[in-house]
Amino acid sequence: MLAREQDETRLRDALRRSPVVLLIGARQVGKTTLARTVVAPGSPNYFDLEDPVDLARLEEPMLALGDLHDVVVIDEVQRRPDLFPVLRVLADREDRPATFLVLGSASPHALRQSSESLAGRVEVVELAGLGPTDLGGDTATAWLRGGFPRSSLADDDEDSLRWRGSYVRALANRDLADFGMSLPAATIERFLGLVGHQHGNLWNAAAVARALDIGETTARRYIEGLADALLVRILPPWHVNLGKRLVRSPKVFYRDSGLLHALWGVGSHDQLLRHPGIGASWEGFAMEEVLRRAGQARAHHWRTSNGAELDLLVEVAGRRLGFEMKRADAPRLTPSMRSALADLDLDHLWVLYPGRRRYRLAEGATALGLDDLLAVDRLDDLDEHRS
Ligand SMILES: Nc1ncnc2c1ncn2[C@@H]1O[C@H](COP(=O)(O)OP(=O)(O)OP(=O)(O)O)[C@@H](O)[C@H]1O
Ligand SMILES: [Mg+2]
Repeated sequence: MLAREQDETRLRDALRRSPVVLLIGARQVGKTTLARTVVAPGSPNYFDLEDPVDLARLEEPMLALGDLHDVVVIDEVQRRPDLFPVLRVLADREDRPATFLVLGSASPHALRQSSESLAGRVEVVELAGLGPTDLGGDTATAWLRGGFPRSSLADDDEDSLRWRGSYVRALANRDLADFGMSLPAATIERFLGLVGHQHGNLWNAAAVARALDIGETTARRYIEGLADALLVRILPPWHVNLGKRLVRSPKVFYRDSGLLHALWGVGSHDQLLRHPGIGASWEGFAMEEVLRRAGQARAHHWRTSNGAELDLLVEVAGRRLGFEMKRADAPRLTPSMRSALADLDLDHLWVLYPGRRRYRLAEGATALGLDDLLAVDRLDDLDEHRS
């Protein structure tokens, strides 16, 4: 299924189940476009809080929202966090005349007020960018340009890169201020670039702080800001008490490979192939395609002090799955994979690589071409017995 079709299905299912659905995603990822497939923009049930007319219509929110039926959209909810307590009252009406679809560009953690006042009434749907399936299976372009529609669907690679460049400037000049980033735009841009150098590695706040001459606490607050803005994924370490010494730092990834490439100044396939970070970039790209299919599963990485590591550990439907991303022609089982299988008690280890063939690596471990992953909608649908 196309990623967007799947997103629409997830959204409609959530709207059937819950009185309030929070649709979140990075700026420009396509939230408004998706919401408009549910409620037409001209409808009295559509409120865009960046539109002064709609803001005025919400002067007395209880009155304005109380009489509406069916699905009501509130776009850019972060402009009026005081609406959340009102939504709670409206969500608790017994006959539930209306369901609220609330859009925002921040994680629920950042929209703290929402999760607190709407506890038990809200379902979160997270929107990622367009994927390779949305580009007719053109995985190379999806990887190079990332998933922001204006970037991935641009006429050519140059236009795509130009759009991402202006996106980065808008983040630094304006959008990230909402996440408590108040340093000058030029410094924020440098921060974004430094995070780009750490992509796929253990997060090193001290190095970033030194380079920018800021405090480590500020560097930490800023990386959390990028995570709240749904631009960066902070992958925490998996803790198991095995008497082994574990690495306790999180790893950091840009969620969007195109954004990462723009920060690297990489705008074409040739440049990407020559870039020393290509392996880390592919790892992040493949990982996001895994997580897109993992539902709300929590994700971790794992690394011991003697060098064993696992790129990604997710628990799906009570099963513990490991993923290793290897940009190689025909990956083999490594000692590190062996110890991940044994020490983490994995139900299955998938070794994702860019090739096409699926083959068995060991008991409980399979090499899987990325195309095979892209062909399933959910990780549950990966058949461990096929080879
Ligand atoms: N499925 C899609 N196919 C093609 N273009 C799309 C799609 N979704 C969004 N776009 C385009 O991407 C751009 C951003 O989309 P949209 O405004 O829906 O994003 P958003 O997440 O609401 O952004 P913001 O956070 O800035 O409000 C728009 O130009 C839109 O036309
Ligand atoms: Mg929008």
